[in-house]
Amino acid sequence: MRNPLSKIEALENARALDRVATPYREFVHALPLGRARDVLHGRWQGHPLHPALVQLPIGSWTSAALLDLTRGNERAARLLVAVGLAGALPAALSGAVDSADQLPEQERVGVVHAAANATAVALYAASLAVRCRGGSGRMLGFAGLTVATAGGFLGGHLAYRQAAGVNHSEAVPHLIGAGWHAVGAPEEFPRGRAVRRLVGEVPVLLMRDAQGVGEVHALADRCAHLSGPLSEGEFSDGCVTCPWHGSTFRLTDGACVAGPSTAPQPSFEVRLNDGLVEVRLPGAA
Ligand code: FES
Repeated sequence: MRNPLSKIEALENARALDRVATPYREFVHALPLGRARDVLHGRWQGHPLHPALVQLPIGSWTSAALLDLTRGNERAARLLVAVGLAGALPAALSGAVDSADQLPEQERVGVVHAAANATAVALYAASLAVRCRGGSGRMLGFAGLTVATAGGFLGGHLAYRQAAGVNHSEAVPHLIGAGWHAVGAPEEFPRGRAVRRLVGEVPVLLMRDAQGVGEVHALADRCAHLSGPLSEGEFSDGCVTCPWHGSTFRLTDGACVAGPSTAPQPSFEVRLNDGLVEVRLPGAA
């Protein structure tokens, strides 16, 4: 049987889309958003913000369509279309900042997702203009909802098939056995130099403080955002910055202090036992 998602999977590998995706990413990176960028990612709530923000336009437009279908209150339908348009702007902005920090295959689907949603917004803007002049605007609204639904399907593909926006460290506690695991002799962890070790199948980043007593910190090495190698990142102010998209995690506890990641990094306890450095992940299965 033919894979019903084959056309969307073809989008993932359609390199021609890079001609749009690359300037789109550069444009979004150049926006002077400052701290608002992390707010739009949703780091403050520990989840991506975009899926929450799209509820307003989708809910408003679906409700307007129901009123249009049942010949319900035209004034209420007009108001719902307007509310959906107002909610589309922050939803689009949060989606854009997320999509500008993704893998190429995700970016390609992301630009088609964004184009579909922009088309839906244009159709609803036209619908609202017609309604405000006393016309029906219903068919434009139905067309807008159809295109928005297609855009939403692509968003679902991005999240559930391509794992954009999810916590890529979630499996770590299930892949590491409970208890302490030896990772090497103390001299294998020089001050201020990142060392990568495997604990079972899980890569772990170890870093001994350059200053002070030289405490060793250990985090899962694959970034919670999209699995970038933190051991190849930059280290400063007690934090590591991922080399792929710049998420920054505190070495002492794995807290995410800068996005795009919205999830923390699994953080290990470290001890010296029988002349070896050992690590243990609280909550490991
Ligand atoms: S993989 Fe994207 S910030 Fe680390």
